[in-house]
Amino acid sequence: MSKQTFRVVITKKVPSDGIEKLLTNPRVHIVGGKNEFSLPRRKLLQLVKGADAILSQLTDKIDDAVLSAAGPQLKIVANYAVGFDNINLQAAKKRNVMVTNTPGGVSTAVAEHAWVLALACAKRVVESDAFMRHGKYKEWTPLQMLGQELYGKTLGIVGLGRIGQQIAKIGHGGFQTPILYMDPHRNKPFEKRYGAKKVPLAMLVKHADCIMVSVPLLPSTHHLIGAKEFRSMKRSAIFINIARGPVVNEKALRDALKKKQIWAAGIDVYEHEPHMVPGLAQLSNIIVTPHTASATMLARRTMGQQATQNILRALQKKSVLSRVG
Ligand code: GLV
Ligand code: GLV
Repeated sequence: MSKQTFRVVITKKVPSDGIEKLLTNPRVHIVGGKNEFSLPRRKLLQLVKGADAILSQLTDKIDDAVLSAAGPQLKIVANYAVGFDNINLQAAKKRNVMVTNTPGGVSTAVAEHAWVLALACAKRVVESDAFMRHGKYKEWTPLQMLGQELYGKTLGIVGLGRIGQQIAKIGHGGFQTPILYMDPHRNKPFEKRYGAKKVPLAMLVKHADCIMVSVPLLPSTHHLIGAKEFRSMKRSAIFINIARGPVVNEKALRDALKKKQIWAAGIDVYEHEPHMVPGLAQLSNIIVTPHTASATMLARRTMGQQATQNILRALQKKSVLSRVG
C-alpha cells in the first residue's frame, strides 16, 4: 500500500478475534465499532463521511444516501454476513463501490443451527425444559411429551446454496434422510452423491417431513412460503427458517401453527425483525432464536477474517474474494 492512510468505518462492534489485521494495520485508521447496537441513522450518515471502506452489518441499510454521505473515495462495503439484502447493489454499482459478503466458514454454524431447531422441535425440547422448570413433572408416563424421530424422514431444502448443501450433508450423513430440493439451478453431482432430487416447491412442501429454508432474500423469494404452502404440508411437518424473515409470510406461519396444520416450526429470523407477529411467541409448537444461527466464535472469527481481507485487498486495488456487487 502507498503511504496514504485509509479511513475504515466499522458500523457496530465485532469480535476483535478475526479483524486483527485491520486493527493493527498502520495505514488504517479505524472509526466507529465501539457500540454493540446500531447507531441512529443520522449518526451513521455522519460516521461514514470520508470512509474508504465500510465494514457493515445486516442491520445497516446501506442505500444511496449512505454511499453519498461517505463520498466518492469509498471503495468497498464489506458486509459482515452471508446475506446482503440490506445493501442497494445498484446504487453501489453506480458509484463504483464494490460489495462483498462473508460466505466462507459460516455454513457449518448455520446448518447446525437448523438441525438444532429441527431436533428440538421433533423432541419438544424447549417445551420439556419449561415443564421441568415449572415443577410440572410429577411422574413418568408413556404419554408425556411424545415427539418424533427424524431418522429416514424426507428432508426438503428450499435453496441449495452453501448452507442448504451443508444442511443436506448433515441430514444424509446423520439421519439417512432422502433429500428433495428446490433451487433455480440443478446440481447433478450433488444429486448423485446425496441421492437428492430437484422438485418444484409445491411438491417439496407436500412430500417433505422436515422443510428447511436457506434461500437469500430477493424479490423472487419474498413470501415464497405462505398460507398455500403451509396448507399443503403434512400435519407432521417440521418447518425451519434460518434464511431471512420476509421469505416466509409470518402471519400465515402463525395461523398454520395455531390450527396445527403442521407439527412445529423453528425460526431464527423474522419478517419485521426484531419483532414477531402478535401471537407467535404464545404458541408452544414453535421455537424461536434471535437470529443467532451463525453465532459461533469460530464463524464470527472467519467472518471477521473475510471482511478484513476484502477491505485490505480493495484498499490495495487487488481483487477481492467474495464480491457480490
Ligand atoms: C446472517 O444472517 C448472515 O447473513 O450472515
Ligand atoms: C446462502 O447464502 C448460502 O450460501 O447458502
